[in-house]
Amino acid sequence: MIYAGILAGGKGTRMGLQDMPKQFLELGSKPILIHTIEKFILVKEINKIVIGVHPDWIIYTEDLIKKYLSPFIEKIVIAPGGSNRNDTITNIITKIKTEFSSNDDDIIITHDSVRPFVSLKTIKENIWLANNYDAIDTVVEAVDTIVESKDKESISNIPERQYLYLGQTPQTFKMSDFMSFYNALSENDKEILTDACKIFTINGKKVGLAKGDYSNIKITTITDLKIARSMIEDN
Ligand code: CTP
Repeated sequence: MIYAGILAGGKGTRMGLQDMPKQFLELGSKPILIHTIEKFILVKEINKIVIGVHPDWIIYTEDLIKKYLSPFIEKIVIAPGGSNRNDTITNIITKIKTEFSSNDDDIIITHDSVRPFVSLKTIKENIWLANNYDAIDTVVEAVDTIVESKDKESISNIPERQYLYLGQTPQTFKMSDFMSFYNALSENDKEILTDACKIFTINGKKVGLAKGDYSNIKITTITDLKIARSMIEDN
């Protein structure tokens, strides 16, 4: 089985809004989260879509799904979000294991709820590449030079740009692998290793690259929201 795990458990603190997390803000005629879920509904290979939402926002999300996605309600399940991004992934996988029969080969395509412009091509490439790799990360080539500074005052390194990419989502892997690697981490490592694919690389696993798009932006700040709203108007 192939599951989509939509990560919507964050609070959006960098957006600086008080009343609701950014994934519920309107983009055109519907909330950002709904745009994102719609992309995964269009991919026929995906059996179920599980959304990880902060417990305070579960009822609100259920209402949104009834309002905007009622024909697809059978395909969508809500799980409680966790205290960090990987905990939300863990809760989504736990929900899948309790509600549906899952086996060791089942894969999950995890995606940030605040990346509504993901292309169907990228989602499908994640599914296809999952046959050949232990995990898949979606990336774009770095266009700017990446400068590293360890003391935040002066440059410690400028890595060669030809080898650098910017990580996006989806990130795809077998649910059973993620659970065993994540559960084996110390509490301290769980705090540091916020990227799911990094957990695979430190375990010596081969992580393949799927092609993302520069338009697959993560809406993080008010400026990103303005850019996203102008992108919707252009569509
Ligand atoms: N996320 C999640 N569960 C968490 C934290 C984050 O599912 N406990 C999700 C967010 O909802 C978002 C994605 O992970 O879709 C990417 O995270 P980010 O943009 O950092 O979102 P927030 O944590 O909401 O934002 P901020 O860091 O500004 O608080």
